[in-house]
Amino acid sequence: MIDKVKDIVKRASGLMVREGFDVKEKDGFVNIVTSSDIAVEQFLKKELAELLPGCGFICEEEDVHDSSHEYVWIVDPIDGTANYARGDENCCISVALMKAGEVILGVVYSPWRGEMYEAQKGCGARLNGRPIHVSDRPFEDSTFICALCLYRKEFGDLCSEVIMDVYHQANDVRRYGSAAVEECLLAAGRYDLYFEMRIQPWDYAAAAHIFTEAGGVITRLDGGPLGYDRPHLVVGANTPENHARLLQIVQSHIPQRPFND
Ligand code: IPD
Repeated sequence: MIDKVKDIVKRASGLMVREGFDVKEKDGFVNIVTSSDIAVEQFLKKELAELLPGCGFICEEEDVHDSSHEYVWIVDPIDGTANYARGDENCCISVALMKAGEVILGVVYSPWRGEMYEAQKGCGARLNGRPIHVSDRPFEDSTFICALCLYRKEFGDLCSEVIMDVYHQANDVRRYGSAAVEECLLAAGRYDLYFEMRIQPWDYAAAAHIFTEAGGVITRLDGGPLGYDRPHLVVGANTPENHARLLQIVQSHIPQRPFND
């Protein structure tokens, strides 16, 4: 199954053209969609439905949220759309397969980075066919990938409190602009800590699964497992110890989930 999904995703990436796409605003200037997002999503929906007849879909662009099936595909046609629209390589296609509410397969393909990440439940994670594992860096040597809550700027100051607190305790910070690419970079052991205030299931479903299969720990704000029915605050780390420390820092600034949707 996963080889077929990778093949579909690779063919879909042919629709991520370098130029000649249209850009439209979704909720103002910060949230955009391109004609390539729509084309990739439509292609994936058709091909994945043929691969697994009777499945449901949760997709970013066409507001599809049909999870009343045993098998559900969770699709972000282009994660990091703003990067894509600017010609930045940090963008990817993200496809997860959920069975009875649990993700069992994830594929993240970043064509311009030349990186295909994949994982099946219980089989470990791979990058371009080679097994990958999270780093074992201690907190003090860790690099923190984080964001400032792009689509809900009222939470930006809270995010910056967390970021500055971690910055003073760890090595450095990064922001790539694609949650799926970012979580895969942790899966590959390049970076170590991760926080984003509010991300959607299609942004993290595949990459969080890959990260977990690579040995990482990733949860929502209360330390519980990620769900796929609404946006979450997401905290991830290379080791259980670093996750506990990072979660404690986040919770000291943000004791409760500050949004409902
Ligand atoms: C966005 C990216 C970005 C993250 C946002 C996401 P999109 O996804 O993953 O890194 O900060 O929360 O919505 O809109 O480019 O698919």
